[in-house]
Amino acid sequence: MKRLLLFLISSLFFATTLIADEGMWLPSLIKERIQDMKKNGFRLSASDIYDINKASIKDAIVHFGGGCTGELISGEGLLITNHHCGFGQIQSHSSVENDYLKDGFWAMSREQELPNKGLSVRFLVKMEDVTTQVLKGVNTGLSETERVALVKENSQIIVDEAKKGNHYDARVESLYYGNQYFLFVYETFTDVRLVGAPPSSIGKFGGDTDNWMWPRHTGDFSLFRIYADKNNKPAPYSKDNVPYKPKRFLSISTSGVNEGDFTMVYGYPGRTQEYLHSEAVRYISEISNPHKIKLRTMRLNIQADEMSKSTEVRIKYASKNASVANAWKKWQGEAGGIKRLKTVESKKEFESKFSAWSKNHKQYVGIIDTMTLLYTKLEPLAFVTDYHAEAVNANEIVRFAGIIQTTLLRNSKMSANVSAANIRSVMEGFYKDYYLPVDKRSFAAIVGEYDKNISDKFKPEYFKELMKLHKNTESLADFIFENSVFSSKEKALASLEKGVSQDMYANDPALMFYNAFNEFYNNSIKQQYDEINSRLTLLYRTYMRGQMEFDSENEFYPDANSTLRITYGKVKGYSPSDGVYYRHFSTLEGIMEKDNPNIYDYDIPQKLRDIYKARDFGKWSVNGTVPVCFVATNHTSGGNSGSPVLNAEGNLIGINFDRVWEGTMSDIVYDPDVCRNISLDVRYVLFVVDKVAGAGHLIREMKLVK
Ligand code: ARG
Ligand code: GLU
Repeated sequence: MKRLLLFLISSLFFATTLIADEGMWLPSLIKERIQDMKKNGFRLSASDIYDINKASIKDAIVHFGGGCTGELISGEGLLITNHHCGFGQIQSHSSVENDYLKDGFWAMSREQELPNKGLSVRFLVKMEDVTTQVLKGVNTGLSETERVALVKENSQIIVDEAKKGNHYDARVESLYYGNQYFLFVYETFTDVRLVGAPPSSIGKFGGDTDNWMWPRHTGDFSLFRIYADKNNKPAPYSKDNVPYKPKRFLSISTSGVNEGDFTMVYGYPGRTQEYLHSEAVRYISEISNPHKIKLRTMRLNIQADEMSKSTEVRIKYASKNASVANAWKKWQGEAGGIKRLKTVESKKEFESKFSAWSKNHKQYVGIIDTMTLLYTKLEPLAFVTDYHAEAVNANEIVRFAGIIQTTLLRNSKMSANVSAANIRSVMEGFYKDYYLPVDKRSFAAIVGEYDKNISDKFKPEYFKELMKLHKNTESLADFIFENSVFSSKEKALASLEKGVSQDMYANDPALMFYNAFNEFYNNSIKQQYDEINSRLTLLYRTYMRGQMEFDSENEFYPDANSTLRITYGKVKGYSPSDGVYYRHFSTLEGIMEKDNPNIYDYDIPQKLRDIYKARDFGKWSVNGTVPVCFVATNHTSGGNSGSPVLNAEGNLIGINFDRVWEGTMSDIVYDPDVCRNISLDVRYVLFVVDKVAGAGHLIREMKLVK
């Protein structure tokens, strides 16, 4: 009996410690983790994941549009990513008459696939540790500025070398706050066409209400195709281009997921900060997030109000609204999670132990206190910086006036005609998605918050004068929006008729407002702010090394920095609060429960209702319904959207698109109990493409396996 108990306890212990969950690992170093991955169920080898001599899974993955991930799912360049990653492209092809956002879009032939200006995808060709070369000549005698210059110079040599005789892009990235450097070589494709997108009522089902939430029922995917020239090499858009033949594409598993199954997410997480000082975490969770949330709540309420009144405004603000709402909600989960986990307190505890230890490790002595001191100095500056971004530059015409000014400056060598044409096209782009009442009401609200919450010494003189004159920000808004040419497309375009000159808008109130704040910020805040930050960066480099030395049992991974990473874990439900447990998957039943013709985000296509009524699920039926999403313990972040979720055999089982709100603090601190990534079950993708879109030809292009 006792033996059995011991056995049970030890196997229980193993069951909980075997799963790594936390960590974003570098593909080229994955051999160091492969044993652990195998213990957790993975069946392939390290070179199946990453290899530079033969095709490996990495060759099926792209950094999509700079901010998302995508993966190839056919030998003819077919790529899948999230609906929200292709949202900008889908929106750009949409109009009130051809509302692809609302109705979806499906190219029924290659000719119908839509090119996208400005969109590019890049494959990682290879990555390698170049720390020694980058740090050549660096010694402790150098000042930080000298070090930065030398690192830059050395990196440039490495990049030039990597690009010699090929068409690749290359860059050197720092890891662990500059304790390690890696070279990344990419092949970039710019002819990427839209192939298909479900209606938003599927692809963005639940909208911003369900965003970051579980249970989730969003069919968040869109399909693109990469085109190449006749030699399969990147080429700018041309109708003569042909579908790209990838070195590797992913097979799709239709076997589905069970709780406890191994999952691996392979993609491009953007930014995490797992090794922060407690003061930084306190500022984020107690000050920065709450203020930014309040400012965005104001903007979102105004947008929602105006969008509900008109379809045109709804389309115009769809993308802007989604991105404002997205961070707004994430910050709430993040601040809540940090509070719940008592991360500030536990960091403080760690820091005091570290400080005690550092008494015998000279190079780390006093580092914690010095950082605390610097954070005290940084805080007021960080606060204005937050307001500068969220309350000043968040005003559309103000920001736009600044952009026009920069464009004019950049155009100074062009002839007046060319410059005017150029400015005109920038304006056309801006006003396509502009609606004055939204901007003007927001201006009054958020500039009002600036006025209220920022101390006088951080207000530009010009602003103080304006406030004396206009009393409140509502009348200030009246003044600026009535008198600025940027408040309407007609006025803005008309202003170009007399020809262009560099300072033609010098007296425009929107530009004056922009300049007053930006000059003030740049002259009186930014310098100091950057200076303190760069001292902190320098200390972080040492502190990072110190943490690794002090806590040498711990397994460290570099913070995300938009480079390719692997995270692995398992399919698992979670308990968000006392007495509640969330199962690991959702189904079509939940979509029908939420279906509501009166709410835009829950108003599913009639076609889906009909299919459901007839229970016409075809071969996609599982236990009488269709699986939609699932959660797992993979440690992901923004940028992992669209990432492939792979099973133990390396086949595609899902498309990553979100995290659960209770776990969004994982960018700062990961909690295996509640941090979950949300994936779209690939079987729902197949169901939608086949049954709802009737685009079976696309499925025939894919390789389905059991
Ligand atoms: N939260 C997801 C991410 O961070 C999805 C965002 C897009 N969806 C939305 N409803 N705004 O990107
Ligand atoms: N939706 C996010 C993205 O666009 C992924 C969610 C997350 O932050 O993990 O990358």
